[in-house]
Amino acid sequence: MKVTILGAAGGIGQALSLLLKTQLPEGSKLSLYDISPITPGVAVDLSHIPTSVSMQGFTGDNITLALKDTQIVLIAAGFARKPGMDRSDLLQLNARIIEHLIEQVSITSPYAIIGIITNPINTTVPIAAKVLKKFGVYNRKKLFGITMLDIIRSNTLIALLTGKAPEKFNIRVIGGHSGSTILPLFSQASHSNIQLTTEEIHDLTKDIQNAGTIVLESKSGGGSATLSMAYAATHFCLSLVRALKGATNIIECAYVEGPGEYAKFFSQPLMLGKDGISEYCPIGKLSAFEMNALRNMLDQLKYDIQLGEDLVK
Ligand SMILES: NC(=O)c1ccc[n+]([C@@H]2O[C@H](COP(=O)([O-])OP(=O)(O)OC[C@H]3O[C@@H](n4cnc5c(N)ncnc54)[C@H](O)[C@@H]3O)[C@@H](O)[C@H]2O)c1
Repeated sequence: MKVTILGAAGGIGQALSLLLKTQLPEGSKLSLYDISPITPGVAVDLSHIPTSVSMQGFTGDNITLALKDTQIVLIAAGFARKPGMDRSDLLQLNARIIEHLIEQVSITSPYAIIGIITNPINTTVPIAAKVLKKFGVYNRKKLFGITMLDIIRSNTLIALLTGKAPEKFNIRVIGGHSGSTILPLFSQASHSNIQLTTEEIHDLTKDIQNAGTIVLESKSGGGSATLSMAYAATHFCLSLVRALKGATNIIECAYVEGPGEYAKFFSQPLMLGKDGISEYCPIGKLSAFEMNALRNMLDQLKYDIQLGEDLVK
């Protein structure tokens, strides 16, 4: 199994590379690419960790070598938010980067599964889909926007509120990955003896929607969420790897082009299989608060999607 990280020298990219070097199954290959000239050195550095995952690092014009024969491509290349910016402010900066990188993926590894981390996810994923279509290689079951960070944050915050262990939770988060489009389904918390009030659910939801901004402000402008995001992307990537290797019953939420009941691209639970998505799972029963939040997010989500589709000529 070969996994390639594009944007591997950045805050998320380096931490993600470290986690995958230590957690990918024995015999895997990890390939790093970034426009930063330190990238081959990042691979050399990681190669000294004694695991049976082989490392390669590329920069400059060598993206083809990085992508050759890869099964999974994770994209964390691009600019991160600074305090005072929302995710949509990143669009002009990151749209061209995604367009260029997806062109390279379309040419060199058209059958790979792609996981996009680069924000704004609501728009960068539709951009990627349009580019893949342009090259005639789009398979909607193989393109994911990684929204896992919202899920791990939800598991952590509900655990803090209830005093239970965070490992006990797997909160589904649906919709998109910015502001009001992030909708954690706390009413479905399956742990026994959990009775959250509507007010608690309302406050928790707001906290998840603002969690990225809190990290930005806490880092005093020096970066956005990198370490927790790397953990989240590692979790998602390892689920993909297990599914590709034939494991069954692996369900994760991600932002994908699905059945389109709510919006063309939508984050929802997905069964993963050997070819990417094997089944679009139902979002389950929503409380009145969640139904209302879902209805209220849709104009914004559809606007973000259209923006991405219009950007690719
Ligand atoms: N999905 C999420 O939940 C989530 C969470 C946090 C951050 N992010 C996003 O992830 C992205 C990366 O964040 P970061 O904190 O690691 O930023 P960073 O600035 O630390 O790293 C970005 C890296 O991308 C590289 N890069 C830029 N253009 C490139 C190109 N054309 N090809 C290859 N590499 C290129 C840069 O050299 C840099 O090393 C941002 O867009 C950020 O908003 C997403």
